Amino acid sequence: MLELFSPAWTSRQTSLDPVSLKSLWLERRSSRDALDQSGVWRFRELLPHIPAEHAITLREGNTPLYHLPRCARSTGVENLHAKHQGMNPTASFKDTGMTFAASSAHQSGFRWVACASTGNTSASMAAYAARGNMHSLVLIPEGKISWGKLSQSLDYGALTCQLRTDFDGCVRILNELVRQKPVYLLNSVNPYRIEGQKTLAIELMEQLAWEPPDHIIVPGGNLGNSSAIGKALLEMQQIGLISRLPKLSIIQAEGANPFYRSVHEFGGKKLEAMTADTLATAIRIGNPASWKKALRVLQTTGGEVEQVSEVEIAAAKAEIGADGIGCEPASAVTLAGLKKLRRSGFVKSSESVVLVLTGHVLKDPDFTIKFHRGDLFAGTPDEAAAARTKSLQRAPVVLEAAVGAVIGALEGAGKD
Ligand code: F0G
Repeated sequence: MLELFSPAWTSRQTSLDPVSLKSLWLERRSSRDALDQSGVWRFRELLPHIPAEHAITLREGNTPLYHLPRCARSTGVENLHAKHQGMNPTASFKDTGMTFAASSAHQSGFRWVACASTGNTSASMAAYAARGNMHSLVLIPEGKISWGKLSQSLDYGALTCQLRTDFDGCVRILNELVRQKPVYLLNSVNPYRIEGQKTLAIELMEQLAWEPPDHIIVPGGNLGNSSAIGKALLEMQQIGLISRLPKLSIIQAEGANPFYRSVHEFGGKKLEAMTADTLATAIRIGNPASWKKALRVLQTTGGEVEQVSEVEIAAAKAEIGADGIGCEPASAVTLAGLKKLRRSGFVKSSESVVLVLTGHVLKDPDFTIKFHRGDLFAGTPDEAAAARTKSLQRAPVVLEAAVGAVIGALEGAGKD
């Protein structure tokens, strides 16, 4: 546990100038070396030093940046892209931080690593622990994470404990446990996680030819990711890799909005923990650990914090899907938030925007199927509001096994 709090985690100084760094990183893309092939370790000059023999990599990072033509039309922002972190080895953005933090656990000789999670951290941690020959302990809220995520941590061999509490309750228990047992904590308060997750922003700038967009929009849960992206942006500016900072905005679900309330109700002076509730279970977090860091990022970059409703999240998710991309519900808050930021005038149609999609569409198929069948909000107070998402729903049709029946369906679909 010692090294978690040691200063050794600050980025190592690089003696290379920005031009040499950019060409070194590009060169590594054609290398056969496993670390060079990783979209995290490729940028190791901006990360703390971990010896290669301790590096655990699944070739994470290297995620695509997609244009979103339909979403661009519906938001009026032509220059709209998605950085899809769901295209990582365990299908979420957690892998970029996990490769680095798990390697640090390995370097320190830990046999056990542990995390509290809403499902993605645990899936990622279990995979990297397995690759590094370590045991992993997962604490998750019972009944509050998607089956896809739960199944991953089982398959990767974690000791998976479903606790009868929420994410915040799992964090409390884990914090107590690490004081009593020699397990290495892999939640996002771990500075190596933040360091690894910085590479999302570095890779993004490389993809944009080092020309920052006007806006980057991320979901906010425990607020580690926004802190990591903010740290990377500042460091890149300091060493001259980019000349200006994009505005980093953070979006929360209305039912899990402690950071939104902190900023809008308390001027960022305090954060009131809450009991969180949202169908976007990945961000069902009422007491975010990194809120002060995220606040500094908002202030430094001039970003906004918004909140979006359950129906807005569901509609945005289907719209991202209709662009042939797809994402999990928590990621879709970014598009829903962009719509609000457009309405408030914070984002202008002439500006460039990158949405950070944090998880893959297959992480939570239950949500997707219920939405398209029209069941997601049945019997809830959101039922009436959800009626306006009908045009986005594509329920499966059950037919007799006959060509005529399928032709009928085809012709019916053409009439829309
Ligand atoms: N999106 C997804 C898909 C997530 O899994 C998470 C967090 C977030 C956004 C929020 O990111 O916490 O850095 O602000 N998931 C954590 C977990 C808490 O345990 O998987 P954040």
